[in-house]
Amino acid sequence: MGLRKSAALLAGVALALTSLAACGNETKNDATPTGGATGATGAVNPDAGDTLVGITMPTVSLERWNNDGSELKAKLEAMGYKTSLEYGNDLPEQQILQIENQINAGAKILVIASIDGSSLGTTVAKAKAAGITVIGYDRLLLQTGDIDYYATFDNYRVGQMQGEYIVEALDLENAAGPFNFEPFAGSPDDNNAGLFFKGAWDVLSPYVDSGKLVIQSETGKKATGNWQDIGILSWKSATAQSEMENRLNSFYRDKKVDVVLSPNDSLALGIAQALETGGYTVGGDWPVLTGQDGDIANVKNILAGKQSMTVWKDTRDLAAAVADMVDQIAKGETVTVNDTTTYDTGVKVVPTYQLDPKVVTKDTVETELVGSGFIDAADLQ
Ligand code: BGC
Repeated sequence: MGLRKSAALLAGVALALTSLAACGNETKNDATPTGGATGATGAVNPDAGDTLVGITMPTVSLERWNNDGSELKAKLEAMGYKTSLEYGNDLPEQQILQIENQINAGAKILVIASIDGSSLGTTVAKAKAAGITVIGYDRLLLQTGDIDYYATFDNYRVGQMQGEYIVEALDLENAAGPFNFEPFAGSPDDNNAGLFFKGAWDVLSPYVDSGKLVIQSETGKKATGNWQDIGILSWKSATAQSEMENRLNSFYRDKKVDVVLSPNDSLALGIAQALETGGYTVGGDWPVLTGQDGDIANVKNILAGKQSMTVWKDTRDLAAAVADMVDQIAKGETVTVNDTTTYDTGVKVVPTYQLDPKVVTKDTVETELVGSGFIDAADLQ
């Protein structure tokens, strides 16, 4: 039996055991998330036709959110729910209007992948007042008690995996070094970006402290203080590209960069472009470069040797887990979560369903990404 199937069965058993307790309470499911997650039950809820689910996503300009949005919408509609799916163009004010429209349209459940995690307090307070259940999707809402559930991947682990990859790729335990190292961080308004950075930094900072990893650029050096000071607003590839070009032009005229910590694929795309412009060559002096998401353009770069790895988060599993949450909420059943301690908005620790990320390299693109149907082989041509 495949992981997805056995995990679905497990979730089903947990559900059956707890359905007597019912009524919107969460239960702790101690099963280790497998990355296969729950898998939506797929069963049609006969009462779902009356339930509108408002879904808001940050932007259409990044591949993953398009996948997330269409997966979740399709799953919920197959279960009989009405949906409203909106993309916020990376503009927090636009997302606020979209959510308010969904509240006014009578949504019963809101699924929010926030743009600015701290900007939605007033909006979700309105949702609460209207009796709506709020689910945070992938990104946690901050400074609010008006979020009921959260579903995400283990964000700290994502950063740890990037750090561990770098340690192994450069053999930092044994190699003499020193290696020139440039760290990047994600959007300062995204709670995930801080967790990614912390995960990576906890692994890498001992090597920075011992001098085996040397940060040459002034911006990069700020990583030792507040990660937000090196954050790339809205995770824009173009901003990451110009930042990397600046670092190369100002600090690497007579040196080579050996390793770049990129928290995700959109930044890695810009950084790879800057390396290319800066004259770095694959098979020669191209540095180790990390990423996250498994976007097609980045997977092509991995195959071409321009990106070393990506931390893959199977968004189909996240969408399935959230579709199950919606269904459980709508039916007044107990909601399956497996983490009740980690995700704190600053006001409330949110019951969470957390999934496991996975490292993908050139050697595993075929088995993991193509084999699982996440990417079509034809799209990698
Ligand atoms: C997500 C990443 C994504 C990034 C940029 C983060 O919140 O977890 O998967 O790459 O946003 O959209």
